[in-house]
Amino acid sequence: MDPEIKQKVNQRNWFYRFDLPDGSVTESYLPASAQQVHTTRLEMVERVLKPLLAKHHGLSGLDLASHQGWFSLKLAAMGCASVTGMEPRPGHIDDARLMARASSAENIRFVKSDIQNIDATDIEPADIVLMLGLIYHLENPVAAIRAARAYCRRVCLIETQVGPHLSGMLDWGSHEFVRPIQGCFTVIDETEETHGGEASTDGICLAPSAETLLWIMEKVGFVEVALVSPPADAYEQHRHGKRVLAVGWVP
Ligand SMILES: C[S@@+](CC[C@H](N)C(=O)[O-])C[C@H]1O[C@@H](n2cnc3c(N)ncnc32)[C@H](O)[C@@H]1O
Repeated sequence: MDPEIKQKVNQRNWFYRFDLPDGSVTESYLPASAQQVHTTRLEMVERVLKPLLAKHHGLSGLDLASHQGWFSLKLAAMGCASVTGMEPRPGHIDDARLMARASSAENIRFVKSDIQNIDATDIEPADIVLMLGLIYHLENPVAAIRAARAYCRRVCLIETQVGPHLSGMLDWGSHEFVRPIQGCFTVIDETEETHGGEASTDGICLAPSAETLLWIMEKVGFVEVALVSPPADAYEQHRHGKRVLAVGWVP
């Protein structure tokens, strides 16, 4: 690894533990108790994507909310022929580019954009779309899921914090016209945390229930939509169903 790059990488702590080509691993600022959130998600993502990538060569990947590029690099390592990471925070884009150089990863690029306002000239549809850790930071998660569908050619993986579910019937304008409730969102306030690297950029956050996420994914056009089961030793949030990973396929 270029000594200048190595020095830059070692100067600070990272959101992820990046494996570097010289065998070293970056220090992470995430508490040890939460580190598993990344490894559990990777294990679940790999379970879906590795068989696909073993069968089909030359697939492209799009990582929506790529942060420092950890999952983008993992997509490349799994065998994606080209990977685009999309992220609105310029600092993360710089970090991800540095990490791609440190890892000598080719065919990987990072584009600054916001999922709620994608500059369509920057992003092209990809075979594999990852949208991990994002929708519960958004005020318009449905539009983001629609965008994921629009940019997806084969399979999309959406991972999110979920809230409680609501079902039943609702008087819809009159007690004589009732409609089934298809689900609900939990509203969380991140307006004081928008400076944080992992938080929302505008602060009003809507987290779906797991059932609502699946319903929306089907409504925007994914098929065979399902939750990926967490491994037995998963991070506690996945083990207890507080975060889920859903997969949807393009017909
Ligand atoms: C919890 S982190 C998840 C990062 C990565 N996808 C992962 O799962 O490890 C949330 C990421 O979403 C990004 N983000 C926040 N608002 C966004 C938006 N409107 N459009 C795209 N990304 C956004 C943040 O900058 C941050 O990188």
